Amino acid sequence: MPSLLTFSETVSRPAFWGLVACLFTVHIAISRVRGWYRLRHIKGPWSAAWTDLWLISKTRQGSLFEDLGDVCKQYGSIARIAPNYIVCGDAEEVRRMWGVRSQFDRAPWYKGFRLDPPRDCTLSMRGGDVHAMLRSKLAPGYSGKDVEGLHESIDAGIARFITLIEDKYLSTTTKYRPVDFARKAQYMTLDIISKIAFGESFGFMDRDEDLYDYISTVESSIPMMQMVALIPWLINLLQSFFCKALMPSERDAVGLGPIMAIAKRVVGQRYIPNAVDRKDMLGSFVRHGLGQQEAEGESLVQIIAGSDTTATVLRTVMVHVVTNPTIYMRLQAEIDSAVAGQLVSTPITDLKAKELPLLQACIKEGFRMWPPISGIMPRISDRDAVICGIRIPAGTNVAWSARAVMRSESVFGIDADVFLPDRWLRANENQRQVMENTIDLCFGQGRWGCLGRPIACIELNKMIVELLRRFDFSVINMERPIRNSFFGVLIQSELNMRISRRDDLT
Ligand code: HEM
Repeated sequence: MPSLLTFSETVSRPAFWGLVACLFTVHIAISRVRGWYRLRHIKGPWSAAWTDLWLISKTRQGSLFEDLGDVCKQYGSIARIAPNYIVCGDAEEVRRMWGVRSQFDRAPWYKGFRLDPPRDCTLSMRGGDVHAMLRSKLAPGYSGKDVEGLHESIDAGIARFITLIEDKYLSTTTKYRPVDFARKAQYMTLDIISKIAFGESFGFMDRDEDLYDYISTVESSIPMMQMVALIPWLINLLQSFFCKALMPSERDAVGLGPIMAIAKRVVGQRYIPNAVDRKDMLGSFVRHGLGQQEAEGESLVQIIAGSDTTATVLRTVMVHVVTNPTIYMRLQAEIDSAVAGQLVSTPITDLKAKELPLLQACIKEGFRMWPPISGIMPRISDRDAVICGIRIPAGTNVAWSARAVMRSESVFGIDADVFLPDRWLRANENQRQVMENTIDLCFGQGRWGCLGRPIACIELNKMIVELLRRFDFSVINMERPIRNSFFGVLIQSELNMRISRRDDLT
């Protein structure tokens, strides 16, 4: 007679759990070996072939910019950095991959940058028609054509910054008033971008403090966001209904929450019946058919994407110029002679600033040395692809190394690691074009290219001229002039400076 014993009666409890553990281990081992086998033809750090820990730990340490550059140096332009991630350090191939007609799309990693999950914004949205449609509604506003008073908002912000320095941070021979330029620069860019985005400045410069602890909260959450983005199941969990309470909300007293509340209030006023059609950025979004919730999200994007990025380039240019006496003197002389020849207004116009060759070369070097966004920005394709002559199986995440690209000796010369604006001045037309194409990648490319680029460039052109024509700057700590942490976006602090009025010996 066949046994009617159940499975649990024939197998003891410990043996059962032992079997489960064994099957689980075998399953993990098989999936690891399969993962390794898929990309076995791509070299990289040994552990990266088997686990994500190499990539996650480098992200956590804030050293990914250097580490990915080192990996590309050691293993070539394509290297493996995790079981399903490779990195590309070749500028032309990155351009091709990010280009308009590329077979690649943004990878699921971007989900990690949703500001109000599960809703997407331009920063988190993958390609396709929805993204293209959203961009078409935003582009007229971002281009500045549809917006009155864009330059005036920037001018007013810079003027407020100059007043702040003059009132509180000017040193003389009898008064020493050191200032953390890194922090104050971000107050300026936040006030400018909020004026552009919402029609009202946050008032960071007026209060001369980190309002709502916005900067410190955002800076401390960036490393975590970058790590979480690498772990798809964790993103899904954190963005699920159950974890809603952990996400920033307009009810929060600090961090992004209060900024969300401002966005909600200001945007809400534009969508009431018979609302006035204002010729500003938000007005442009409304006129081009952006829905109210989309407009709230995209206003926040401007603050997040458009404040510290611009401040980073300003700081990077300032710290490199101020610590290079020959460049510093020549740049001041270029600005002085334009002022003396009455070629520039106060403040300088964007057009005139573009005519100052050394200034432009310094800004380009600033982008190149420390790109504000140096995160992995992975792309993925549902078909096999070939990059740098190597077959990349469908479904592989392809990151870029900002360092390998921006410090490429074949593009920028053997001294690519040095801040050397003269490389732009002495390059022939062909070389210059190749270098331009490469630093353009600091703003992304194609379908996902930065929409705020014209705004950032106007700000930088004006800020640097207006600061250097008025003030002398000295870095206080030459051992470590600035603190840089590369958490996908570059977080900078402690650029302590002594600022004095030009030619002021009193
Ligand atoms: C120096 C300043 C800036 C740098 C280096 C920069 C860099 C970038 C990069 C690299 C991307 C593309 C990311 C990707 O490919 O996934 C991007 C996207 C974007 N940036 Fe910027 N950005 C800067 C300033 C700004 C400003 C001032 C604004 C707003 C006023 C802005 C708004 C945006 C938006 C809306 C996108 C999303 C575009 C899309 O996906 O369709 N950025 N930026």
